[in-house]
Amino acid sequence: MIKTLEWTDGGVRFIDQTKLPTEETYVTCKSYEEVADAIRTMIVRGAPVIGVAAAMGVALGARDSKAANPADFDAEFNHICGVLAATRPTAVNLFWAIRRMKEKYKSVGSQPMPEIKQQLVDEAQRMLVEDIAANLAMGKHGAALLPASGGVLTHCNAGALATCGYGTALGVIRAAVDSGKQLHVFADETRPFLQGSRLTAWELMKDGIPTTVISDNMAGAIMSQGRIGAVIVGADRIAANGDVANKIGTYTVAILAKEHGIPFYVAAPFCTVDLQTADGSGIPIEQRSSGEVTHMAGKQMTPDGVQVENPAFDVTPHKYVTAIITERGVAREPYTKSLQDLAGR
Ligand code: MRU
Repeated sequence: MIKTLEWTDGGVRFIDQTKLPTEETYVTCKSYEEVADAIRTMIVRGAPVIGVAAAMGVALGARDSKAANPADFDAEFNHICGVLAATRPTAVNLFWAIRRMKEKYKSVGSQPMPEIKQQLVDEAQRMLVEDIAANLAMGKHGAALLPASGGVLTHCNAGALATCGYGTALGVIRAAVDSGKQLHVFADETRPFLQGSRLTAWELMKDGIPTTVISDNMAGAIMSQGRIGAVIVGADRIAANGDVANKIGTYTVAILAKEHGIPFYVAAPFCTVDLQTADGSGIPIEQRSSGEVTHMAGKQMTPDGVQVENPAFDVTPHKYVTAIITERGVAREPYTKSLQDLAGR
């Protein structure tokens, strides 16, 4: 399995996703500030792994603290959490993971510093193990939903690289293939950051799963030819009513799927569900730098001075979502009820 991230004595080690697919290189972040930079610059990206990376960043900051006792450490701990929380606004997994680290700190805060540090490191590592287990469970719940054979379209990268291993949407595809389904994945290129063509295609090819990269504007034509039996994507945040924030372009794909009568599935760990946010209008959408749109691989693609927008995510209204696959089970309309029911499991 691809090691997207790993806790080491020297720091948190990431596969550098900005260099894939042409270079498989690894970077070790030796401080929590370096982990925050890795999240911001997308050396590590994808909602679930952003959460675990942040948790490891918190653990790293705690481990390296010079504070002699919890009273001295409190303010520093909150500062570390604040720096990591300020990296990317949309993926709720980031805030979920930091909250969990805060809860852990609260529960062990009366112990001596070495014990607190060890508990925080253990908690972050536990989150990595749990994320992989959740993905495997999603695979079990979701595999039956995919067709027995033919094309499945995905957008962005919701694979091993976006998680601690196996993937959410790609995990379901992997499980379906393992169960004998003869699938062919159509990977949307995913402009502007190219997570589909650079990352999804790279990891599926490593697994020998047949994959075709298409540019984003080809999806409708391929669907109209009857070559797509299902769409499956990941999510960065799912509101209580089932509205789904995911990579920019997902909304367009969902509408196309509806028009062509193709089921549109979302696979995400339950920590991506944000029951505090009633609907998609409350989800903050990250705006990234214009350079990601104006330039490709360092080459300028637009005239000097042109106005550019670069929202990193969009919101797909729940009416387009056939089902949401989580490790706790599969939710369907009405999502306000089904997601609430899964919350109780
Ligand atoms: O900007 P990114 O690459 O972090 O966006 C990633 C996505 O939108 C993924 O589809 C989502 O995080 C789910 S990953 C399991």
